[in-house]
Amino acid sequence: CDPTALSQSLLAWYDRAGRTLPWRKKGGAAADPYHVWLSEVMLQQTTVVVVAPYFLRFLERWPTVAALAGASSDEVMHAWAGLGYYARARNLHACAKVVAEWRGGAFPDDEESLRKLPGIGDYTAAAIAAIAFGRRAVVMDGNVERVMARLFAVSEPLPAAKPRLKALAASLTPDLRPGDYAQAVMDLGATLCTPRNPACGICPWMAACDGRKQGIEAELPAKLAK
Ligand code: ADE
Repeated sequence: CDPTALSQSLLAWYDRAGRTLPWRKKGGAAADPYHVWLSEVMLQQTTVVVVAPYFLRFLERWPTVAALAGASSDEVMHAWAGLGYYARARNLHACAKVVAEWRGGAFPDDEESLRKLPGIGDYTAAAIAAIAFGRRAVVMDGNVERVMARLFAVSEPLPAAKPRLKALAASLTPDLRPGDYAQAVMDLGATLCTPRNPACGICPWMAACDGRKQGIEAELPAKLAK
């Protein structure tokens, strides 16, 4: 299927049915890199529902990356309590200090420079580059892998299939609105293309989905037997 038609139909679905989340801007307004970074670090191992109130509390208390850098580590760890994976909070604070003290409060706008910052790996660097800076970065997480495996009926098991799934995701990533596109695939994976009982009947990609056509969507992505 034509990649442009696929990304366009997904973006139309996202505009209509995407989730309203506190770090998203309506109508394609530019997202604040500080907000995108904070939300994506929180979302690394925690669900959207749990993250939302923490995200709002952090922003209320520390409206800028400089304000967060100026907090004590006790304050940051205390505010993080309940989100788990506390190394993320230490890295968050360390990253805020680097950005505030060495970069004048400006996050880098490319994946390679973002990856050099504490707590920012491949996923978070791509998410910030795409969502905050409109870069055509390929954002891969478990949701995106599942959606790609099904759409293209990739039966090779994870983790070996990862490079292939990333190449397929890259082939669909549009030049325009790459950040909305990335968030749209994540929303599709979280709300319709779920691990169990995917809601194919209302999926914007149903007609194009090879996994669905072959009746194997629920078995994908395959995982290496342990
Ligand atoms: N999971 C992690 N980041 C996300 C985002 N920006 N939108 C939806 N789900 C996500």
